[in-house]
Amino acid sequence: MYLTKEEEKMLNGEMGYAKQIAMEILVALGKIYNAEKMIPVKSTQISGVSYKNLGEAGLEWLEEIARDGRVEVLSTLNPAGVDLEDWGKMGVDEEFVSTQKKIVETYVKMGVQPTLTCTPYYVGNKPQLGDNVAWSESSAIIYVNSVIGARTNREGGPSALASALTGRTPYYGLHVTENRAPSIEVHVPELRDEYDYALLGYFIGKMCRGKIPLFKGVKSVDNVELKALGAALASSGDLAIFHIEGLTPEYTLKPIEKMERIEVEERDLREARDELNDDSPVDLVFIGCPHASLEEIIMFMEKLNGRQVRKETWICTSRSIKNLCVELGVKKKLEELGVKILADTCPVIAPIEQVGVRSIATNSAKGAWYSRNLNKLKVKIARMDELVEEAVKEY
Ligand code: F3S
Repeated sequence: MYLTKEEEKMLNGEMGYAKQIAMEILVALGKIYNAEKMIPVKSTQISGVSYKNLGEAGLEWLEEIARDGRVEVLSTLNPAGVDLEDWGKMGVDEEFVSTQKKIVETYVKMGVQPTLTCTPYYVGNKPQLGDNVAWSESSAIIYVNSVIGARTNREGGPSALASALTGRTPYYGLHVTENRAPSIEVHVPELRDEYDYALLGYFIGKMCRGKIPLFKGVKSVDNVELKALGAALASSGDLAIFHIEGLTPEYTLKPIEKMERIEVEERDLREARDELNDDSPVDLVFIGCPHASLEEIIMFMEKLNGRQVRKETWICTSRSIKNLCVELGVKKKLEELGVKILADTCPVIAPIEQVGVRSIATNSAKGAWYSRNLNKLKVKIARMDELVEEAVKEY
């Protein structure tokens, strides 16, 4: 693998310990994937923040890197295990919170912005078409590749941090134009809202593992729907990119081979819904996976229409959107109705076992998928209208 003089220096430790470790990680990755060289990146999004996932060993490793590690490019942080300000509302123990704060401080010491959101593109980390970036967090990766047309592979937390510290990533996979071309045509029925897109993503993810779908028959799609579709594809199928004919920036890329074709029917979406429903009483109603935009929060409030919730109800979002909700009086109104607006976190990566939640209802296929497979919760996927009714229902 070709390395520039500066990259060689990093690898030899002439530019410090952290850069050496980071370059070792990137060179190892490059060798595995036969990358011919490193390329510069414009930004990184780093996962591996929640103490629940990172653990003591992860924190120790980070502290070691942070001794002399400083980021070279705009770098933002994935959510943590708690809302760093309103953690008292979550029912999580103080010991967890103090270690969680230490983890975030360690990233901040390295120059990473503590955005603590899986939607960095809403809060200032929004690359341009064709930019190379190194992002971890599967829902953000697929969004940035598909909707923005910037280029990243599916990085893990350590490799994204390594790119942050060196400003480089190995040139392979989705950084190469021909690897981004669609490989399967997916004809879709009429889709109403983000819930339908989540079901579509869940269904197609399972069918198209290792492929790149080109969706056909979509007349218009909004940002919330794109977010839901991508998050679901990335969960059930580990996909990192999709295209929509006429709507996403790279849908005209020429397929390498003749494309396969799938026709999605209404009953496929119903099947996906049934698979993500355990038919169990709901402890927690949750929206904001990926983190909610202001418009989703307002939509939930309007559907609630002044009614008090009777169940634990969380809306998860980024700190900056939560602050906007404070300014607009939305947070106060929702809190008066019993809804908790939480920033920096979500129920999938929070220590949900401490909160006493055994079942969750959400409009997100990703939220349902990980709550079931990672946290062993019972799940229910439902439209936002139905979630509102679930939240106000008497026990
Ligand atoms: Fe974000 Fe948590 Fe969903 S990190 S994408 S809200 S699982």
